[in-house]
Amino acid sequence: MRAAVIRRYGGPEELRAETVPEPSPGPGQVLIDVTLAGLNYADLHCRAGEYRRYPLPAVLGADVVGRRRDDGRRVAALLRDGGGYAQVVCAEEAFTVEVPDAVGDQQALALLEQGATAYGALTLLGRLRPGERVAVTAAAGGVGHLAVQLARELGAGRVVGLASTAAKREFVRGLGADATFDPTDPKLVDRLGESGGIDLFVDSVGGGVLRSGLAALAPFGRLLSVGARGGPEESFSVAELADGSVGVLGFWLQHVLDDRALFAGVAEQLFRLAADGRLVARIDRVVPLDAVAGAHRAMGARETMGKVLVDVHRESGKGESRARSG
Ligand SMILES: NC(=O)c1ccc[n+]([C@@H]2O[C@H](COP(=O)([O-])OP(=O)(O)OC[C@H]3O[C@@H](n4cnc5c(N)ncnc54)[C@H](OP(=O)(O)O)[C@@H]3O)[C@@H](O)[C@H]2O)c1
Repeated sequence: MRAAVIRRYGGPEELRAETVPEPSPGPGQVLIDVTLAGLNYADLHCRAGEYRRYPLPAVLGADVVGRRRDDGRRVAALLRDGGGYAQVVCAEEAFTVEVPDAVGDQQALALLEQGATAYGALTLLGRLRPGERVAVTAAAGGVGHLAVQLARELGAGRVVGLASTAAKREFVRGLGADATFDPTDPKLVDRLGESGGIDLFVDSVGGGVLRSGLAALAPFGRLLSVGARGGPEESFSVAELADGSVGVLGFWLQHVLDDRALFAGVAEQLFRLAADGRLVARIDRVVPLDAVAGAHRAMGARETMGKVLVDVHRESGKGESRARSG
């Protein structure tokens, strides 16, 4: 089979399309003939050797959609040990969900990892209540653009998106955000404080923007971290939190995956919203297998909006096809 392989940790140039043996499933695993694989920001950290160091050579990629080899059912799967940028993967059956007919491959793939993160963060830990004011960082990103739509869908009273360029902010307004701000705006805390502050601040960036989010929380507000871009760990004193009657929370999707019924329920909910047209994952681009390196570069350079996909059956040597749609 063909796969995008790294033979050492490093920059995007380490990703190369190669012919490698098909994996063999172990106990509790299923073989999937992959249609599309997804890119996630964590893949960039994996490639650089900063997160989940797999034995080399390694195939990265944490989410796929395709067909089960054993019964032909169309499924999407999350891969905790990578392997996604390939024509065939071994997936834990417990992390595999059947995709309903009403949901296309691109939507299913874009929703599973990033949608479950956004949904889990907003509901399970953020405990969003109708009418609350929500802010989302990296709001044009894979997780962020779904969090904006889901916050709206779950009844938020006001949804604010942070994004670094005017084009991204326009994209985020198009998703239903009431307001958008530049995360580097020196008046960010004041702007977030408009309309009385933020009840739930969902952050995937960390650092200064996380600090601004904390400062802009309304009483009883929650700052919820789903990720960070490196840099020093933020720390908070209990007194500081008590002064504002606010909380800081951290979310990891693994804890949803560890509960089979919970994961299946979250996936079902996301697929139902997609089938009803109430949640639409935006596809930034679909790249051929031999252009995964370029896709990593684009994501690292903050150029992508929505989900980036890999067509594992295409190798053009000619770059990428753009598709800003569902
Ligand atoms: N907790 C979990 O279980 C879980 C699961 C999935 C993903 N995540 C996390 O969710 C976050 C989003 O993941 P994603 O795959 O959807 O990525 P993404 O948001 O599509 O892409 C990253 C975005 O982060 C923003 N950013 C801010 N500072 C950056 C910097 N220095 N370099 C690059 N980008 C920067 C950029 O948006 P702007 O240019 O608009 O700032 C960029 O577009 C990541 O932190 C990821 O690790 C967590």
